[in-house]
Amino acid sequence: MSDSDRRSPNIEDRGEAKYFHGRKGILADFKERLEFAEQDPKKGTTFLIQAAPGAGKSALLHECARLAAIEGFAVAEVDPHKLLDPEVLHESIDTSWMRWRRWLTQGSASIDVGVFKAGVVVGGAAKTPLGVIEEGKGGLVLLLDEAQLMNDLAVGTGIPFIGAKALLTAIHNGRTGRPVMLVAAGLSATKRAFKDLGVSRFKANCYVELGPLKPEAERDVIKDWLLKEGRAKGDPAPWIDAIMQKTHGWPQHLAAYAESAAIHLRATGREMTPAKLKTALELGEIQRTKFYESRADGIVKKERQCLARAMANVEADGTIDKDMVITTLREVCSAEKAEEVFALALSNGVFDLQRDSYVVPIPSMRRWFIANYYIERDPPNLPPPKLSPPPDRPLDTTPGDSTLGLVPLPDADRDLER
Ligand SMILES: Nc1ncnc2c1ncn2[C@@H]1O[C@H](COP(=O)(O)OP(=O)(O)OP(=O)(O)O)[C@@H](O)[C@H]1O
Ligand SMILES: [Mg+2]
Repeated sequence: MSDSDRRSPNIEDRGEAKYFHGRKGILADFKERLEFAEQDPKKGTTFLIQAAPGAGKSALLHECARLAAIEGFAVAEVDPHKLLDPEVLHESIDTSWMRWRRWLTQGSASIDVGVFKAGVVVGGAAKTPLGVIEEGKGGLVLLLDEAQLMNDLAVGTGIPFIGAKALLTAIHNGRTGRPVMLVAAGLSATKRAFKDLGVSRFKANCYVELGPLKPEAERDVIKDWLLKEGRAKGDPAPWIDAIMQKTHGWPQHLAAYAESAAIHLRATGREMTPAKLKTALELGEIQRTKFYESRADGIVKKERQCLARAMANVEADGTIDKDMVITTLREVCSAEKAEEVFALALSNGVFDLQRDSYVVPIPSMRRWFIANYYIERDPPNLPPPKLSPPPDRPLDTTPGDSTLGLVPLPDADRDLER
């Protein structure tokens, strides 16, 4: 496996949620920012969505894009690793614009596509990414998913670092001469990467940490999956309650269980019997496990065993000591490889950086690692297991943040443990 393969997480769930609900306050804030940007190009800004794996970042990003397109902004998706390539950026703005225009004209005949002409970049390829943006006219929304990968630029030096900093700060501070918003979504290392690249003070409500969906939204999502997708017959309430016991508002878990239930219903005649519910929940669990597998992609068995041992050595909500993980990995690989595995675990969301500590962001993923890969050994170099619970992690109270709370992920198996 090449280095670049190891760095790219195997992301299956990207983009639009089939039955999107909730996040209304965030979307209202985003829309308000678009309106500000439209009125005054100097109000261009960064809108940063940060959360643990499966919280719904990509789905929310897509909803933001939809709103922006309806408001007449050109919308372009950008790969964090290609952000500094002017030609790719130029191409991305052109092709995304066409895709969004198609989507809009299919969905709503009442929208005047003429307004989008303003968003096309003119004048061929420019020399710098900032030049590409400055050359165009009209409102532009740049979508940057997996934005934690910006860390690769933030920790580097030289021209890429300087280029990224110039681009991000120009957008963030409204210095591109046109209304531009960068909408970035990434894991918890993202905010720090942006800070290192000169973007640290976010305008009101432009920095969001996603938590679970509220119960009403969660119900609506499950109901749509069961009735619209599964075409279920009868009252879905008992199934919704049973699925909510497993998902606790966490979008990825929701998608795993609700979609599995819908598929099962369609395949078996649509009546919602208790026996079918049992099977549907088992199928949901299989889907959820696939998600963990995708997070561990690129980490081989012996390395997973080391990570499991490091996880077992701390409480479920405790912090992970990087040195301890590296020491454990060093038993099976070189120092360089150990660093690489740690970085991969971080970029795939197996570990997450919350404030200044590493954690395992999904308790049920921690249990999956331990159940499948933990092998007891003498750990001569490890500190003794932590027996007492660590203090609660404080909420992020950075001024100007619209912090929804650094919510530890719900433990989807909480009910089984009681
Ligand atoms: N508000 C929502 N309503 C309904 N479904 C949602 C919502 N948010 C996310 N989902 C669904 O939950 C699943 C996970 O969401 P998504 O892929 O957006 O999470 P993510 O935070 O981007 O995850 P990752 O860190 O793996 O990239 C997807 O199947 C998505 O369609
Ligand atoms: Mg995503």
